[in-house]
Amino acid sequence: MSQRAGTLNKHEITLIANYYSSLKCIFSQIKTKKSQTMPSKAKRCVFCHGSTGKTPYTIYPNIGGQKKNYLSRQLFAMRESAINVIQHAKKEARFHRIMAPSMLDLTDKEIDDISEYFSQQRCR
Ligand code: HEC
Repeated sequence: MSQRAGTLNKHEITLIANYYSSLKCIFSQIKTKKSQTMPSKAKRCVFCHGSTGKTPYTIYPNIGGQKKNYLSRQLFAMRESAINVIQHAKKEARFHRIMAPSMLDLTDKEIDDISEYFSQQRCR
């Protein structure tokens, strides 16, 4: 990503962002038979990402209907970066100060359950 994005200027970034945000979101996941009950620690995500992963705030990404594997990879990376930055004062590329406090105490199982929950939501 950074190799490609690093060559773009601000105008090109705006054009690309406008293009992708204008596309219709199509839910492409296979519905699982697992429960659609929200995992208890996913409640902390709701303020920013919405209860079904759709948010009206332009600064937060929609995560509903996203691929489960992608969601869990992001959450593992964010948890690891939060631990490294907050507990060990290391620099981390995936660290995000807004997301970090929500990540620190999540177990692998909770990340899996939360990723499952949001991946099963409709994206629009
Ligand atoms: C205080 C607001 C806030 C809370 C609470 C929050 N997030 Fe986020 N989240 C953000 C912001 C801002 C970003 C964009 C950060 C970035 O990508 O660098 C983000 C990014 C993400 C991404 C990456 C999206 C992508 O397309 O790359 C995922 C996945 C995610 N959040 C899931 C969660 C989950 C699950 C929770 C709860 C356990 C949560 N977030 C709690 C604000 C929040």
